[in-house]
Amino acid sequence: MEVVAGPASPLLASRVADKLNSKVAQSRYKKFPDGELYARVECNSQDAVVVQSVNSNDDLIFLMLTLEALEDKNVTAVVPYLGYARQDKRFMKGEALSIRVVARMIEDYADKVLSVNIHSEEAKKQFENIEEVDAMPVLGKHFKGEDICMISPDVGAYGCVKVAAQSANCDFDYLEKKRLDAEHVAMETKNMDVKDKRAVLIDDIISTGGTIVEATKILLEQGAQEVKVGCVHPVFASYALNRLYTAGVSEVIATDTIERNVSEISAAGLIAKALK
Ligand code: R5P
Repeated sequence: MEVVAGPASPLLASRVADKLNSKVAQSRYKKFPDGELYARVECNSQDAVVVQSVNSNDDLIFLMLTLEALEDKNVTAVVPYLGYARQDKRFMKGEALSIRVVARMIEDYADKVLSVNIHSEEAKKQFENIEEVDAMPVLGKHFKGEDICMISPDVGAYGCVKVAAQSANCDFDYLEKKRLDAEHVAMETKNMDVKDKRAVLIDDIISTGGTIVEATKILLEQGAQEVKVGCVHPVFASYALNRLYTAGVSEVIATDTIERNVSEISAAGLIAKALK
Protein backbone atom coordinates (compact mmCIF):
# COMPACT_ATOMS: atom_id res chain seq x y z
CA MET A 1 0.00 0.00 0.00
CA GLU A 2 1.18 3.51 -0.78
CA VAL A 3 -0.08 6.77 0.61
CA VAL A 4 -0.69 9.63 -1.80
CA ALA A 5 -0.45 13.04 -0.20
CA GLY A 6 -2.89 15.51 -1.70
CA PRO A 7 -1.80 19.16 -1.69
CA ALA A 8 -4.20 20.04 1.13
CA SER A 9 -2.96 17.34 3.52
CA PRO A 10 0.79 16.72 3.08
CA LEU A 11 1.63 16.55 6.78
CA LEU A 12 -1.29 14.38 7.78
CA ALA A 13 -0.61 12.07 4.83
CA SER A 14 3.00 11.57 5.90
CA ARG A 15 1.88 10.92 9.48
CA VAL A 16 -0.61 8.32 8.25
CA ALA A 17 2.12 6.72 6.12
CA ASP A 18 4.40 6.56 9.17
CA LYS A 19 1.72 4.86 11.22
CA LEU A 20 1.11 2.35 8.41
CA ASN A 21 4.81 1.85 7.68
CA SER A 22 3.96 2.76 4.10
CA LYS A 23 5.70 4.73 1.43
CA VAL A 24 4.47 8.15 0.34
CA ALA A 25 4.05 8.07 -3.44
CA GLN A 26 5.68 10.71 -5.61
CA SER A 27 3.10 13.22 -6.72
CA ARG A 28 3.07 16.55 -8.46
CA TYR A 29 0.41 19.23 -8.39
CA LYS A 30 0.25 22.53 -10.15
CA LYS A 31 -2.07 25.31 -11.18
CA PHE A 32 -1.91 26.65 -14.72
CA PRO A 33 -2.01 30.39 -15.34
CA ASP A 34 -5.66 30.12 -16.39
CA GLY A 35 -6.56 28.48 -13.06
CA GLU A 36 -6.86 24.91 -14.30
CA LEU A 37 -5.28 22.28 -12.06
CA TYR A 38 -2.98 19.36 -12.79
CA ALA A 39 -2.08 16.20 -10.90
CA ARG A 40 0.42 13.41 -11.56
CA VAL A 41 1.01 10.44 -9.27
CA GLU A 42 3.63 7.72 -9.41
CA CYS A 43 2.25 4.86 -7.37
CA ASN A 44 3.78 1.41 -7.70
CA SER A 45 1.42 -0.47 -5.38
CA GLN A 46 -1.94 -1.82 -6.37
CA ASP A 47 -3.47 -0.31 -3.22
CA ALA A 48 -3.41 3.43 -2.76
CA VAL A 49 -4.65 5.65 0.04
CA VAL A 50 -5.20 9.24 -1.05
CA VAL A 51 -5.24 11.75 1.80
CA GLN A 52 -6.76 15.05 0.78
CA SER A 53 -9.08 17.32 2.76
CA VAL A 54 -11.68 19.33 0.88
CA ASN A 55 -11.64 22.85 2.25
CA SER A 56 -11.90 24.66 -1.10
CA ASN A 57 -13.01 24.04 -4.66
CA ASP A 58 -9.38 23.59 -5.71
CA ASP A 59 -8.99 20.95 -2.99
CA LEU A 60 -11.96 19.09 -4.45
CA ILE A 61 -10.66 19.19 -8.01
CA PHE A 62 -7.17 18.14 -6.85
CA LEU A 63 -8.78 15.20 -5.05
CA MET A 64 -10.71 14.20 -8.15
CA LEU A 65 -7.67 14.50 -10.43
CA THR A 66 -5.62 12.40 -8.01
CA LEU A 67 -8.29 9.71 -7.89
CA GLU A 68 -8.51 9.75 -11.68
CA ALA A 69 -4.73 9.37 -11.97
CA LEU A 70 -5.06 6.23 -9.83
CA GLU A 71 -7.97 4.83 -11.81
CA ASP A 72 -6.38 1.38 -12.25
CA LYS A 73 -5.67 0.96 -8.49
CA ASN A 74 -7.71 -0.02 -5.46
CA VAL A 75 -8.17 3.39 -3.94
CA THR A 76 -9.31 4.56 -0.55
CA ALA A 77 -10.05 8.27 -0.48
CA VAL A 78 -9.30 9.66 2.96
CA VAL A 79 -11.04 13.02 3.08
CA PRO A 80 -10.27 14.16 6.63
CA TYR A 81 -12.32 17.34 6.30
CA LEU A 82 -15.32 16.82 4.07
CA GLY A 83 -16.28 20.25 2.80
CA TYR A 84 -19.82 20.87 1.57
CA ALA A 85 -21.18 18.57 4.30
CA ARG A 86 -23.05 21.50 5.84
CA GLN A 87 -25.20 21.76 2.70
CA ASP A 88 -26.70 18.39 3.59
CA LYS A 89 -30.29 19.29 2.73
CA ARG A 90 -32.28 21.64 0.56
CA PHE A 91 -32.83 24.36 3.16
CA MET A 92 -34.71 26.40 0.55
CA LYS A 93 -36.63 25.32 -2.52
CA GLY A 94 -34.38 25.14 -5.57
CA GLU A 95 -31.11 24.77 -3.67
CA ALA A 96 -28.51 22.23 -4.73
CA LEU A 97 -27.87 19.37 -2.32
CA SER A 98 -24.13 20.05 -2.50
CA ILE A 99 -22.86 17.12 -0.46
CA ARG A 100 -24.69 14.72 -2.76
CA VAL A 101 -22.71 16.08 -5.73
CA VAL A 102 -19.45 15.75 -3.79
CA ALA A 103 -20.32 12.22 -2.64
CA ARG A 104 -21.12 11.09 -6.18
CA MET A 105 -17.96 12.62 -7.57
CA ILE A 106 -15.72 10.93 -5.00
CA GLU A 107 -17.47 7.56 -5.06
CA ASP A 108 -17.38 7.49 -8.85
CA TYR A 109 -13.60 7.00 -8.54
CA ALA A 110 -12.82 5.73 -5.03
CA ASP A 111 -13.49 2.19 -3.86
CA LYS A 112 -13.90 3.36 -0.29
CA VAL A 113 -14.10 6.69 1.50
CA LEU A 114 -12.93 7.55 5.01
CA SER A 115 -13.53 10.83 6.79
CA VAL A 116 -13.23 12.38 10.23
CA ASN A 117 -16.21 13.82 12.14
CA ILE A 118 -18.54 14.26 9.19
CA HIS A 119 -20.77 17.22 9.94
CA SER A 120 -24.06 15.31 9.98
CA GLU A 121 -25.72 11.95 9.52
CA GLU A 122 -27.61 13.45 6.55
CA ALA A 123 -24.30 14.23 4.84
CA LYS A 124 -22.97 10.76 5.60
CA LYS A 125 -26.05 9.15 4.11
CA GLN A 126 -25.24 10.61 0.70
CA PHE A 127 -22.33 8.13 0.47
CA GLU A 128 -22.71 4.44 -0.25
CA ASN A 129 -19.44 3.27 1.30
CA ILE A 130 -18.01 5.69 3.81
CA GLU A 131 -16.38 5.15 7.19
CA GLU A 132 -16.17 7.88 9.79
CA VAL A 133 -13.68 8.21 12.62
CA ASP A 134 -14.30 10.34 15.70
CA ALA A 135 -11.51 12.70 16.78
CA MET A 136 -13.41 14.02 19.79
CA PRO A 137 -11.74 11.54 22.21
CA VAL A 138 -8.24 12.67 21.18
CA LEU A 139 -9.31 16.32 21.30
CA GLY A 140 -10.70 15.81 24.80
CA LYS A 141 -7.62 13.92 25.93
CA HIS A 142 -5.53 17.01 25.21
CA PHE A 143 -7.26 18.72 28.15
CA LYS A 144 -7.10 15.76 30.57
CA GLY A 145 -5.86 16.76 33.99
CA GLU A 146 -6.81 20.43 33.54
CA ASP A 147 -9.33 21.99 35.92
CA ILE A 148 -11.91 22.85 33.23
CA CYS A 149 -15.48 22.40 32.11
CA MET A 150 -16.38 21.78 28.48
CA ILE A 151 -19.13 23.68 26.75
CA SER A 152 -20.84 23.06 23.46
CA PRO A 153 -21.76 26.29 21.68
CA ASP A 154 -25.07 24.72 20.63
CA VAL A 155 -27.20 21.68 21.23
CA GLY A 156 -26.06 20.23 17.87
CA ALA A 157 -22.52 19.74 19.13
CA TYR A 158 -23.67 18.43 22.53
CA GLY A 159 -22.89 14.83 21.57
CA CYS A 160 -19.39 15.89 20.51
CA VAL A 161 -18.70 17.75 23.73
CA LYS A 162 -19.97 14.80 25.76
CA VAL A 163 -17.42 12.48 24.13
CA ALA A 164 -14.60 15.01 24.50
CA ALA A 165 -15.52 15.69 28.14
CA GLN A 166 -15.58 12.00 28.98
CA SER A 167 -12.09 11.75 27.58
CA ALA A 168 -10.95 14.85 29.50
CA ASN A 169 -12.77 13.64 32.61
CA CYS A 170 -14.57 16.94 33.19
CA ASP A 171 -18.09 18.38 33.46
CA PHE A 172 -19.90 19.58 30.37
CA ASP A 173 -22.87 21.65 29.28
CA TYR A 174 -24.21 23.52 26.25
CA LEU A 175 -25.43 26.87 25.05
CA GLU A 176 -28.52 27.36 22.97
CA LYS A 177 -27.92 28.89 19.54
CA LYS A 178 -30.29 30.68 17.21
CA ARG A 179 -28.92 31.19 13.69
CA LEU A 180 -29.97 34.60 12.30
CA ASP A 181 -28.36 34.17 8.87
CA ALA A 182 -25.29 32.50 7.31
CA GLU A 183 -22.83 34.65 9.26
CA HIS A 184 -24.68 35.73 12.43
CA VAL A 185 -25.88 33.76 15.44
CA ALA A 186 -27.46 34.70 18.76
CA MET A 187 -27.13 32.53 21.87
CA GLU A 188 -28.77 31.95 25.22
CA THR A 189 -27.27 30.09 28.15
CA LYS A 190 -28.71 26.80 29.30
CA ASN A 191 -28.53 26.01 33.05
CA MET A 192 -24.84 26.57 33.48
CA ASP A 193 -22.67 28.22 36.03
CA VAL A 194 -19.25 28.93 34.63
CA LYS A 195 -18.38 31.69 37.10
CA ASP A 196 -14.69 31.53 38.01
CA LYS A 197 -14.28 28.39 35.91
CA ARG A 198 -11.95 27.69 33.05
CA ALA A 199 -14.20 26.84 30.12
CA VAL A 200 -13.30 25.01 26.94
CA LEU A 201 -15.66 25.50 24.02
CA ILE A 202 -15.76 22.43 21.76
CA ASP A 203 -17.16 22.29 18.22
CA ASP A 204 -16.70 20.10 15.17
CA ILE A 205 -16.00 22.97 12.75
CA ILE A 206 -14.86 26.55 13.21
CA SER A 207 -15.55 28.37 9.97
CA THR A 208 -16.07 32.13 10.31
CA GLY A 209 -15.70 31.84 14.08
CA GLY A 210 -19.07 33.55 14.58
CA THR A 211 -20.48 30.72 16.70
CA ILE A 212 -17.47 30.58 19.01
CA VAL A 213 -17.13 34.37 19.29
CA GLU A 214 -20.73 34.65 20.51
CA ALA A 215 -20.29 31.71 22.89
CA THR A 216 -17.09 33.23 24.26
CA LYS A 217 -18.86 36.54 24.94
CA ILE A 218 -21.59 34.75 26.88
CA LEU A 219 -19.15 32.68 28.94
CA LEU A 220 -17.04 35.73 29.79
CA GLU A 221 -20.18 37.72 30.67
CA GLN A 222 -21.13 34.88 33.01
CA GLY A 223 -17.82 35.26 34.78
CA ALA A 224 -15.73 32.49 33.25
CA GLN A 225 -12.12 32.94 34.30
CA GLU A 226 -10.79 31.83 30.94
CA VAL A 227 -12.14 30.52 27.64
CA LYS A 228 -10.20 28.05 25.52
CA VAL A 229 -11.41 26.52 22.27
CA GLY A 230 -11.01 23.10 20.72
CA CYS A 231 -12.30 21.92 17.36
CA VAL A 232 -11.69 19.07 14.95
CA HIS A 233 -11.79 21.05 11.69
CA PRO A 234 -10.15 24.51 11.74
CA VAL A 235 -11.65 25.90 8.53
CA PHE A 236 -10.89 29.46 9.69
CA ALA A 237 -12.60 31.44 6.95
CA SER A 238 -12.68 35.25 7.07
CA TYR A 239 -9.80 35.71 9.56
CA ALA A 240 -11.65 33.55 12.11
CA LEU A 241 -8.59 32.93 14.28
CA ASN A 242 -8.04 36.65 14.63
CA ARG A 243 -11.70 37.08 15.61
CA LEU A 244 -11.41 34.37 18.27
CA TYR A 245 -8.37 35.87 19.99
CA THR A 246 -9.87 39.36 19.74
CA ALA A 247 -13.00 38.06 21.46
CA GLY A 248 -10.89 36.96 24.44
CA VAL A 249 -10.17 33.31 23.71
CA SER A 250 -6.86 32.38 25.37
CA GLU A 251 -6.01 29.24 23.40
CA VAL A 252 -7.23 27.51 20.25
CA ILE A 253 -6.41 23.91 19.56
CA ALA A 254 -7.43 21.76 16.61
CA THR A 255 -6.59 18.62 14.72
CA ASP A 256 -4.66 18.32 11.48
CA THR A 257 -7.68 17.42 9.33
CA ILE A 258 -7.02 20.94 8.06
CA GLU A 259 -3.38 21.89 8.46
CA ARG A 260 -3.15 25.12 10.45
CA ASN A 261 -0.62 26.36 12.96
CA VAL A 262 -3.02 25.40 15.78
CA SER A 263 -3.39 21.83 14.46
CA GLU A 264 -1.45 20.31 17.35
CA ILE A 265 -3.52 17.14 17.61
CA SER A 266 -3.12 14.58 14.88
CA ALA A 267 -5.89 12.44 13.47
CA ALA A 268 -3.27 10.18 11.84
CA GLY A 269 -3.50 7.44 14.46
CA LEU A 270 -7.27 7.19 14.12
CA ILE A 271 -7.11 7.17 10.33
CA ALA A 272 -4.34 4.56 10.22
CA LYS A 273 -6.20 2.34 12.67
CA ALA A 274 -9.35 2.53 10.52
CA LEU A 275 -7.34 1.74 7.37
CA LYS A 276 -5.78 -1.32 8.98
C1 R5P B 1 -22.68 24.14 12.98
O1 R5P B 1 -23.61 23.39 12.98
C2 R5P B 1 -21.27 23.69 13.23
O2 R5P B 1 -21.19 22.72 14.21
C3 R5P B 1 -20.40 24.87 13.62
O3 R5P B 1 -20.90 25.40 14.83
C4 R5P B 1 -20.44 25.92 12.56
O4 R5P B 1 -20.18 25.36 11.32
C5 R5P B 1 -19.42 26.98 12.86
O5 R5P B 1 -19.51 27.98 11.88
P1 R5P B 1 -18.98 29.42 12.18
O6 R5P B 1 -17.57 29.30 12.72
O7 R5P B 1 -19.04 30.12 10.85
O8 R5P B 1 -19.90 30.06 13.17
